[in-house]
Amino acid sequence: MTSMRTHDQHVIDLITDARAKIHIMALIHNQLYRSERFDQIDMESHVHEMVSYLSKVYTNREKLVTPVIRHSNVYLSVTQAIPCALVLNEMISNAFKHAFSEGKEGRIEVSIQRSADDAIIIRVKDDGIGMPDGVDIYRADSLGLKLIRNLVQEQLKGKVQVNRDNGTEFIIEFKILEEEAEDV
Ligand SMILES: Nc1ncnc2c1ncn2[C@@H]1O[C@H](COP(=O)(O)OP(=O)(O)OP(=O)(O)O)[C@@H](O)[C@H]1O
Ligand SMILES: [Mg+2]
Repeated sequence: MTSMRTHDQHVIDLITDARAKIHIMALIHNQLYRSERFDQIDMESHVHEMVSYLSKVYTNREKLVTPVIRHSNVYLSVTQAIPCALVLNEMISNAFKHAFSEGKEGRIEVSIQRSADDAIIIRVKDDGIGMPDGVDIYRADSLGLKLIRNLVQEQLKGKVQVNRDNGTEFIIEFKILEEEAEDV
């Protein structure tokens, strides 16, 4: 009976994750239709929508997680916005799902900034329990971390780093595509 329930919970978790991924893609499409410039996605408002959705999906009443979103003024082309949103989804979902155990309070901070040399720097930081020592983000075979690595390195041609002081902080850095950098 217990294993039946565990199994059911596992299935529920899988469906929840899949629903979240589909919803994030739908959010991107909404942004596209609403934006005045069809080729530019406002990443700050996208992050707001994403965090508010994910916090509803992954937190329950016993978990008090305060999301903080730093101001930014970053607009990306669809080509970069989609992999970027998928990476953000994995990192933010991980923070909600793994960083805080039941009853623990915490903070998740998301910031997207553009540096003077047209690099985009994204940080997702939580002050939770920290990643287990055995998890190496560059080698892990689990789907989420693999997706983060592939999307950042292959599609965004960027770098991913993790900082394990006082919780977990993912730092992603990539360049804005040349031809899409004007008028921002
Ligand atoms: N913010 C975090 N805080 C604590 N542990 C984390 C955090 N992010 C990831 N982890 C740990 O790293 C493991 C691997 O993460 P990954 O995203 O690859 O897999 P998952 O979240 O378990 O499953 P999936 O993302 O495929 O649904 C997690 O199972 C968890 O133990
Ligand atoms: Mg994950």
